[in-house]
Amino acid sequence: MTEWLKTEIELYKKNHQRSLALWKKAQEQFPAGVSHNIRDFHMTPFGLSPPFIVQGKESQLFDVDGNSYIDYWVTHGSAILGHAHPAIMRAISDQLSFGIHFGMVNEHTLNLAEMIIDATPCVEKLRFCTTGTEATMYASRLARAYTKKKKIVKVRGGWHGGNDTLFYFVKEVQKGVESAGLKSLEDSQILSFDYNDIEGFKKVLNENKNDIAAVILEPVLGAGGAIPPKEGFLEEIQEETQKRGIILIFDEIITGFRLSYHSAQGFFNVIPDMVTMGKIVGGGTPIGVIGGTDEIMEQANLQKGGEVWIGGGTFSGNPLSMVAGRATLETLRSNKDEFYRKLNENGKMIRQRIQSLLDEYNSPAVVTGVGSMICIHWFDKPLAKISSSSEIKLNLAKEKVNQFQLLMFNRGLLIRSGFGYLCIKHTSKDIEKTLNALEDGIKIISHGT
Ligand SMILES: Cc1ncc(COP(=O)(O)O)c(C=O)c1O
Repeated sequence: MTEWLKTEIELYKKNHQRSLALWKKAQEQFPAGVSHNIRDFHMTPFGLSPPFIVQGKESQLFDVDGNSYIDYWVTHGSAILGHAHPAIMRAISDQLSFGIHFGMVNEHTLNLAEMIIDATPCVEKLRFCTTGTEATMYASRLARAYTKKKKIVKVRGGWHGGNDTLFYFVKEVQKGVESAGLKSLEDSQILSFDYNDIEGFKKVLNENKNDIAAVILEPVLGAGGAIPPKEGFLEEIQEETQKRGIILIFDEIITGFRLSYHSAQGFFNVIPDMVTMGKIVGGGTPIGVIGGTDEIMEQANLQKGGEVWIGGGTFSGNPLSMVAGRATLETLRSNKDEFYRKLNENGKMIRQRIQSLLDEYNSPAVVTGVGSMICIHWFDKPLAKISSSSEIKLNLAKEKVNQFQLLMFNRGLLIRSGFGYLCIKHTSKDIEKTLNALEDGIKIISHGT
């Protein structure tokens, strides 16, 4: 182990004593110490613990050891208004005085639905659920029922949650099967192609001509590497699906209300048949949304002869998520020009600055992203550009990713796997500190000093 790494590990240990003690207990209670596999934040390989967080305020998180971080993970991308935004806190606390959840229809669902329908071009009707994982599962079911076909095409590296329907080709981008306990790949009826590879996409469609119900993809590949679509890619996907009567589902659980108030479909002006949302629309509380044309969604109207059972979920449409989501969307809507300009301009500026640092230090890394989504990918050898998750997965230098994560924690930045998302509360002071920390980290990973 290099000297600098030893020093960084010791520094982290010194500053995270209480987190380390809690982590030890967590190992006894949860497999791998976590209830979400990615929450070890790359610290396990160093025998360290992720920081245990006690509070979030605006752009900052605070841990049990008294450390503070400029947060670019922003609750898996949800907290676009920053942490504890007064409008959301007020909405939740006002609603709490009436109780929590009654398992009954309530007017708050109508209010949030109206805002989503008004803002999102493809949505005529929707259903709420409690997670994005449910939303993509239900969207797939609706598409299969509507087309009376079985196969679903997805992008290699596309993360649509952990449901049994779509949990294929996520990290195991070539082999496809992610977990024991799932159906085999053949039985899954899931097909895949590489993001931005339109020829590969057409090949899959041609080889499965009459069998494909839906294509599901994130308009910008999110967890698969913050990869933007090449010019014309989304348009061609749309054209091919329309031509062949295949349902196009945009999974906008990350990009929904992140790239613009009209989500990625408005940003790129490519309108799918269906959309799934989550994260931002719940204002930091659990939520999932399945939306689409009236005709597709009405299949779920069991009162009128519809035959698709979707929904369910004790906590779907719960008042707290509804009012938190509404407060978020209202705040975004009233400031949409200013907020989205700021988010997207800051994102572009940070990516450009990172790129010049990578050039300056001759780093084996590539920065990707669009709008306020940013990711640095570390490789063993320099790669010019990245356009799919497969390219990343095949070349990723995992050790460097872990080391970069540690360096950033020690410099007061909370990133994950190469960076993350901006929120409207990131100040110019935050960004200046961030760029200094990034320069330090990039230099050390690239040159070992
Ligand atoms: C694009 C995408 N789809 C689906 C999901 C699953 O959402 P949830 O974690 O709310 O189940 C996620 C979560 O990160 C996501 O990024």
